[in-house]
Amino acid sequence: MTNWIPLGSASEIPPGNRKVYSLKGTEIAIFHVANKGQPGQFYAIHDCCPHQGASLVEGEGTGTEIACPLHDWTFDVASGECHDFPEFPLTRYELKVENGNILIEASAFEELDIHDHLFLVRYGAMGWIDHFSAEEDAAFSHRDRIILNTSRGEEIGEILSKAINQNNSITPAGSILRMFTPTDQQKLLQQEDITTHVLEDCQSLIQERGMPTEIIDCEQLFDQQTVVLYYLGNRMPALEILAQELNANYAWRIVFHPVDEAPAPSGCSSGGCGCDQK
Ligand code: FES
Repeated sequence: MTNWIPLGSASEIPPGNRKVYSLKGTEIAIFHVANKGQPGQFYAIHDCCPHQGASLVEGEGTGTEIACPLHDWTFDVASGECHDFPEFPLTRYELKVENGNILIEASAFEELDIHDHLFLVRYGAMGWIDHFSAEEDAAFSHRDRIILNTSRGEEIGEILSKAINQNNSITPAGSILRMFTPTDQQKLLQQEDITTHVLEDCQSLIQERGMPTEIIDCEQLFDQQTVVLYYLGNRMPALEILAQELNANYAWRIVFHPVDEAPAPSGCSSGGCGCDQK
């Protein structure tokens, strides 16, 4: 049986407006999208941009489209799709309006009750630090190498500490799958390093095309499926075309990931983190 949690009255959000509610420490943005001559439609998303955690309710957009106020990635609140980087979709929640009340499907939040074993983990070529959940009986020590499940895929991380805040006010960036083992090390050693090729190909194409994009690093994930190119500069359609071309040339999935030259003014600095800091 589906359980529903009441959030508030639908009359609090006129058509074309949005509002944020807090549920078990998660910020939920409700969008009331106007529908010509028809009753408006309500949509619920996690109010945390999958890029660097900005509040999306502050963004501009019409219909079901919303642009993140921080770096302008655009999303569809109905489908969750990220138009710029499809690998970074929004987290959506099922909702219904009953007797004038907005009700949200409870299962995503019931899960938060058991997500209470959190660790601070450093991961990725940019050295991001974020919270990751683990099994309740998991025991990790400072500097343990681990395998993580993040929005980008499976990658290697390093335990910094157990999180001080173990309540549900934090949304983990992913989960800790297990310890990094000698077999993993073996796999890593056998893995062909294609970052130099990808980096060189990408940089020469950028130069050829006179694009104002600076590639600052390249990382190949442990899952042997994804290569991430980190860049400075604005997102632009030409970069998406370049990603498609590189993807056609390599068996790996090549994705571009923007990096702020200055630290983000709010939220953590990770990408696709699920960070709920505003
Ligand atoms: S696009 Fe939303 S935080 Fe960067």
